[in-house]
This record gives sequence, structure tokens and C-alpha cells, in this order.
Amino acid sequence: MAYKINNLQEYQTEYAASVENPEAFWAKQADRFQWKKKWDSVLDWNFSEPDVKWFSGGQLNISENCLDRHLKDKGDKVAFFWEPNEPSETGRAITYKQLHTEVCRFSNVLKSLGAKKGERICIYMPMIPEVVVAVLACARIGAIHSVVFAGFSASSLTDRINDAKADLVITSDGSFRGNKTIAIKDIVDDALENSPGVKNVIVYKRTGQPVKMKSSRDLWWNELVEKASAEHKAEAVESEDPLFILYTSGSTGKPKGVVHTTAGYMVYSEYSFSNVFQCEKNSIYWSTADIGWITGHTYIVYGPLLAGVTSVLFEGIPTHPTPSRFWEVVDKYKVTHFYTAPTAIRSLMACGLEHVTPYKLESLKVLGSVGEPINEEAWHWYDDYVGKNNCPIVDTWWQTETGGILISPLAGITKTKPSYATLPLPGIQPVIVDSEGQELEGNDVEGNLCIKFPWPSILRTTYGDHERCRQTYFSTYKNLYFTGDGCRRDEDGYYRILGRVDDVINVSGHRMGTAEVENAINEDEAVIESAVVGYPHDIKGQGIYAFVICEDFDQDHDKIRQSILATVTRIIGPIAKPDKVQIVRGLPKTRSGKIMRRILRKIAEGDVFNLGDISTLLDPGVVEEIKKGALVTL
Ligand code: WTA
Repeated sequence: MAYKINNLQEYQTEYAASVENPEAFWAKQADRFQWKKKWDSVLDWNFSEPDVKWFSGGQLNISENCLDRHLKDKGDKVAFFWEPNEPSETGRAITYKQLHTEVCRFSNVLKSLGAKKGERICIYMPMIPEVVVAVLACARIGAIHSVVFAGFSASSLTDRINDAKADLVITSDGSFRGNKTIAIKDIVDDALENSPGVKNVIVYKRTGQPVKMKSSRDLWWNELVEKASAEHKAEAVESEDPLFILYTSGSTGKPKGVVHTTAGYMVYSEYSFSNVFQCEKNSIYWSTADIGWITGHTYIVYGPLLAGVTSVLFEGIPTHPTPSRFWEVVDKYKVTHFYTAPTAIRSLMACGLEHVTPYKLESLKVLGSVGEPINEEAWHWYDDYVGKNNCPIVDTWWQTETGGILISPLAGITKTKPSYATLPLPGIQPVIVDSEGQELEGNDVEGNLCIKFPWPSILRTTYGDHERCRQTYFSTYKNLYFTGDGCRRDEDGYYRILGRVDDVINVSGHRMGTAEVENAINEDEAVIESAVVGYPHDIKGQGIYAFVICEDFDQDHDKIRQSILATVTRIIGPIAKPDKVQIVRGLPKTRSGKIMRRILRKIAEGDVFNLGDISTLLDPGVVEEIKKGALVTL
């Protein structure tokens, strides 16, 4: 098993060592892996360009570390129990050895289609074992994977394919999600209308629904794999060669491609996984995330496989066929470690206790939470009814850009506190700054959360636009990585994440840029201008509230709303659909034409009596009108 911290004192010693001599600390962690060539230097960095390099000069392959490294003593251990969408369909158990064979075969398939080291391959697939095979095969041949969440629309997929300049797409005919069957391949076909660079599409047969196969472009996964050899020697890649691109939303413009590189990401994903979750030899770990998000990358694929753990991979959704599904699956596989998002907990809470109490849940040892702040009520429900007050809850704070968990309790070691992410992992040096960038030292302080020293899995760049990376994360405060989150450090030195301080909203744990949603709404024919803000939502954490100016205010508002929802679904995907659309005649703007979102946020929250100073507005009258039409119960 990987090196693990065993108690609080060890945590403190290890933390101190990691700050005193980070290079020695991480070199020791990196030593546990298989290197084709050892590194020359552990760390070179500056946050001004930024330029961060870990384990320079080293060569390795992460897929080899996930698979080949375990074959001798864990070859017959199950890597994944796959649980299909329908409980009546038989699942699959895939051992490390079998996964290795599948990955080798598929690596040969990719090679035979001309895929090479450094090329980008886009993966748009449901939660089936083959998505893991596809990801690891890309890594094995040194190609850069760009997984796109299969709930995104054709137009979002086009943007991501084109930005990454991918020439190969891996997908499936369709996917099962709850009681829906989604025509994934049709979406890819639509996307490729505007992505002329794509030469081949590999299609895995999952649902068996009819699809149009474009000859010379589209190929069946199943046929290619049958002919492929099961022998494949993993390609040696440089430590700093990119491993993947993952698109994420920011406060401006289109989503950006966060780039993670190989060695640092490998070391940190395993280290953080092992220490936060504290899995043991016979643990059964289950993360309910989707592969399309960073949690799926780090804590479904890489972390657990690097640590040699057995995981559950789930195709479905928490409420299908009933809201007991999670608990049914926990009992079925005797899951010991369960990792989900607060939004899932809140929606199951709302379905009633009768869906939880019939289940034993006695195998559970550790519960995890990720993606958004967990409110105290949800924390206690999770603790009482799922963990039966017997399982530590690790509230894990991190981001797509951080690659792995940065602030979190270590299960069973750190004393937990509802809605606190508690303490930084070894190697992580958080600082809280005020709006001027002054570090707020000591405890009982609140401000913006930054990190002052690099950790191995920090993002290296944003694909094709390094300046955007510098601007977004490294220019707000000199020599600090700025997270975009507000944070409080309490009197015990515990960290509590307060949510985003920028124009990013977190809807059901999914990051959404307000500008991105506005741009999508503005594509609607009837719309002239829009402004989007987040507001507190009981289940989703935050909901999307859109204020929209239309060509003709007197048109049927419901009809316009329907049309806007359809437009947003078409441009981004159903996850970005506004919860509320208020048609307005004007938006509160300053004399220089800037929308005052602060006011709109207050109105969306229902806090209309507290709007603050509105005298700088070009036309304060619009505020009264918006207040009157607000879609909130006051
Ligand atoms: C939020 C998800 C509070 C935060 C891994 C962050 C959290 C954004 C937590 C990143 C948590 C994530 N408590 N807030 N435990 N975890 N967040 O990139 O605002 O999808 O900046 O990564 O989610 O979202 P992302």
C-alpha cells in the first residue's frame, strides 16, 4: 500500500516537513512510482509567468503506473465493479489484469489509426468501463485526452474539439441515464459538422440503437478491438508532457482548457487519494462523479488505480429507478468509502427517509463530499442517516485547476466540523488575503483564498492561451495562485470555504460562468440583452436567475422563457438552463454602461430592501420595475 499518514501527530510532522523542504518531501513520494528515467530536478517554478515544472528530466507512463505496476501482486484484484443504469442488467467485474489487457488492445487501436504522442483525443462517453479504457489508452500512447461531459450539447462539444484541435473522437452509440436513452452519436455527428479537423470517430456499442456511420470516418470500437493485439509497451513520456485537457468555466468568455501534466499529477492524485480516504486492502471505494468532471479524472480513474484500490463505477443517476439507488448499490457491493456531492445529498434528503432507512449501510467507513459547500443540515443528514454517526465525513475542497484535493480532513485522523474543509494537506500552503492582496495572518480571519507555493498537480497552463492562465489565476495577487473562492479561517485554524467571489456560479456542483450563460441566452432571436446571477437554491446550492431584455416586452413571457430554455440547452446543455427568467425593460447600469450585478443578485435572493447605494445608476427607475416583477416570494 501507498505511504499513509496514520494519526494527527504524523500529519503535523509531515505537514511541517512539506513546508520546510518541499523538494525532499515530494521526491520521497515520487520514489514509490515506476520511472523509466529518474528526474533531474524536483521543482522549478515561478508564479509570475507562471512556469511550474515538477520532476523535470524524468520519464514515465501513468497508465503503466496505474496497471502494469500492480500486475504482479494485484492482477486478479477487481479494479472496477461496474453497475449499469438498470439494476436488472448484469454488471461487470474487471480485474487489474483484464483492464490492462483492454487498455493495451485499445492503445494498439489508437496507434493503428495514426494517433501519436502529444495529439489530442476527445472522449465523449457515458459511464461505462470503456471510458476508463479510452482514457488510460490515450495516456499509454502519450496522447492528450480531453474528456467532455456527455451532457454537453453538440455546440459545446464542437467548441472543445476545435479549441483542443482534436482529430479523433471516441464515443458510443447512445447512453442510458435514468429512464432516458440519449443519442450520443447523433450529438457527435452534429458537433462534427463544424469540426472539420476530426478524421476518425470510434463508436462503442452500448445501447444498440441505430446510428449513422459515416464511411471512412466512423469505426466500431468492438470491431477494431477484436483485431488488435493485447501486447503494448507503454510509451515513455516526459514528466511535464501534458496528460490531459479539461474544460472549465470561468468568469469571462468561453470555457478554458485546463492543462495537467504527467508526473506531478500522478504523484499528487495518488498521495491525496490515499491520505484523504485512507482506503485499506479490502476497501470498496465509490465516487458517484461523472468522468466528464475533474473528480472523475482524479478520484475515479487515476487516484484509485494508482493506489491499487477496488472501485465501483456507476452508469446511472441517484434517483433511478428509485431514490434508494445509491443505498442499494452500497449494500450490494459492500461499499466502504462513498464520495458524492452535496446536491445529491440534498435531493435525496428531500425524497424522504423511507428511501434510506431500509438499507443496512453497515459496510460504510468513510463518507466524502465534493464540489460545493455542504450546508450543515445536509452534513448532519449524511452523518446521521448514511454514516449512522460512525463514519468520518471528508469535506474535500479543490478545483479543476488544482488537480487534486487541497484542503480536507484525513479520514479518521482530522477532527471534522460540519461544513468545514478543515486543514490543508501536506504540501499545500493556503493564505487568506484581503482585497488589496494583504495576507491576513492568524486565525479568525475571512477573505480570498490563495495558495502561495506550488504543489505537484497545479495547472500548468490553459490550452493554447498561456496569457489567459496568467491573467486568471496569477495576476490578481502577486506571486499567489488565486482560487476564486472566499474563505474563513476560524479560531481553531480550520478552513471554511464560503463560495465563489467571482462571476462563477456553482449549480449542483457544476461550475458555470455567468457570461457563458448570458452569451447562450443572447443567441435567442427574441433577446436583446441579458444578465445572469446565482441565487440560493435548496437542492442545487445555487440556481440560475436570468434578467432578460426582449425585442418586445409585451410578448407572451412564458413563450419567451420556453424559447430561452431551449436555446440554452442547444448552446451549452441542459445543466445551464436558467431556473428563473424574468423579462425586464431595462437593466441597472452605471453611467459607463456596466451592469450592476450586485443589485441583481440581491433581487434574485429576495433581499430587495437592502440594495445599497443605487444613486450611481444611469436610470435608478429600472430597479423599481425589476423589483416589482421579481420572480421570488417576498
Ligand atoms: C467549489 C470540483 C466548498 C469551489 C472539485 C471551487 C467547494 C469550485 C468544495 C471548483 C468544497 C469544490 N466546499 N466549495 N468541498 N469543492 N468547491 O473545478 O467554489 O468543478 O472553486 O472542481 O467548486 O469546481 P470544479
